[in-house]
Amino acid sequence: MSKIATLEIDGKKYEFPITTGTENESAIDIKALRASTGGVTTIDPGYKNTGSCESAITFLNGEEGILRYRGYAIEELAEKADFLEVAYLLIFGELPTKEQLDKFHTDIKAQSHVDEDVKKIIDGFPKSAHPMGVLSSLTSALVAFNPSSVNVDSEEDMYNAIVRILGKFPVLTAWAYRKRVGLPLDYGDDNLGYVENFLKMMFKKPSGDYTTNKVVVDALDKLLILHADHEQNCSTSTVRMVGSSHAGLFVSISAGIAALWGPLHGGANQAVIEMLEGIKEDGGDTKKYMAKAKDKQDPFRLMGFGHRVYKNFDPRAKIIKKSADEVLGDLGVDDPVLDIAKGLEKEALEDSYFVDRKLYPNVDFYSGIIYRAMGIPVEMFTPMFALGRLPGWIAQWREMRLRKEPIGRPRQVYIGENLRSFKKIDNR
Ligand code: ACO
Repeated sequence: MSKIATLEIDGKKYEFPITTGTENESAIDIKALRASTGGVTTIDPGYKNTGSCESAITFLNGEEGILRYRGYAIEELAEKADFLEVAYLLIFGELPTKEQLDKFHTDIKAQSHVDEDVKKIIDGFPKSAHPMGVLSSLTSALVAFNPSSVNVDSEEDMYNAIVRILGKFPVLTAWAYRKRVGLPLDYGDDNLGYVENFLKMMFKKPSGDYTTNKVVVDALDKLLILHADHEQNCSTSTVRMVGSSHAGLFVSISAGIAALWGPLHGGANQAVIEMLEGIKEDGGDTKKYMAKAKDKQDPFRLMGFGHRVYKNFDPRAKIIKKSADEVLGDLGVDDPVLDIAKGLEKEALEDSYFVDRKLYPNVDFYSGIIYRAMGIPVEMFTPMFALGRLPGWIAQWREMRLRKEPIGRPRQVYIGENLRSFKKIDNR
């Protein structure tokens, strides 16, 4: 029998159905709330208790530290799958067959050229521009070069838009970096895998060959898989919200990139390494920074710690921590900030402030250390996150459109002035 929630307002009772997901998560369905109560709404800043949609893409249990894409455990995908396979899984719902994966990759490669005029736009940015801003602008600009709107009822149209953005986005990401460091804007090599080709596009020098390093390719592949989706986080909700007005895929993604940029979200990976560097330069006194993080008068927060949903270990952080040790070992890199990070983690896990608030390392605590060991500069950390999150954004946008979700439009509780009369400027 389906469950019912009863709400009582001023002695009057209202009943609402409780909907249950496939993992037994319950939600009170308040679709009829305003209509049945005569205008009462709910208030939930930050949407801490609000489900914005039903979704079949990613399952996350923050209490138990579980993350699954389309039913597959993140630990298994990180170990056995490659990034493009995971992208296909997220977007289309099933792991691809060999033929499907080959076709997917071939179609992406066929769409990986970017109009030469895009280079003129990049030229207009100062070298100092943050690559996240550049990337968000360029992704939005892609609409101008590919103006045909996607007919979401046509599977072919939808597929073409998806391979187009998956093809062009790594080029734009690499170009955002190359512009910053003054390298010519160039393409990679269609004979390479998706991730390998991206690395070549980033690092190929005008003279000399680019040699692939398998350790780096595998590590990046894994990092991208770990970032590929995370259900209704800030940037994904943004993508769904913008897309809900029937704005196209590219601009919806562009908005998601802007949301990801903030230091409380994707920008945390850059903030973590800057924090660790700062601690190192200040003599490596982790206790001092632990005290700052706990001091409510001090705005300092331990970046890479805490998560809106995980109140237990972030399962991605566990995989990344292990990977950081392996990658740095394989590459022969000795990075003192890894020791500082481990020291902070150890202290935090034994400190009642962090334990009581269930603050654990999140995905970003160790990722920057791996990026740095790969030679990826700090300001490119968040663009790397965007590259990884792209399939998730696409999958969520596609799901939202296929389910014909209504336009996103939250309510508010107005707390401003009541009606008052206009005073002429001389009387104010
Ligand atoms: N350092 C110190 N204290 C913290 C931290 C932190 N990193 N994170 C949370 N707290 C404290 C808060 O001060 C608050 O304390 P109080 O109850 O005494 O007031 C309590 O823990 C709860 O924190 P909130 O900010 O209410 O938690 P919320 O769910 O809103 O925020 C967030 C989650 C934004 C991730 C937060 O933990 C944070 O700012 N962390 C650092 C930034 C970061 O690493 N972001 C990346 C998140 S992962 C991602 O987006 C991919």
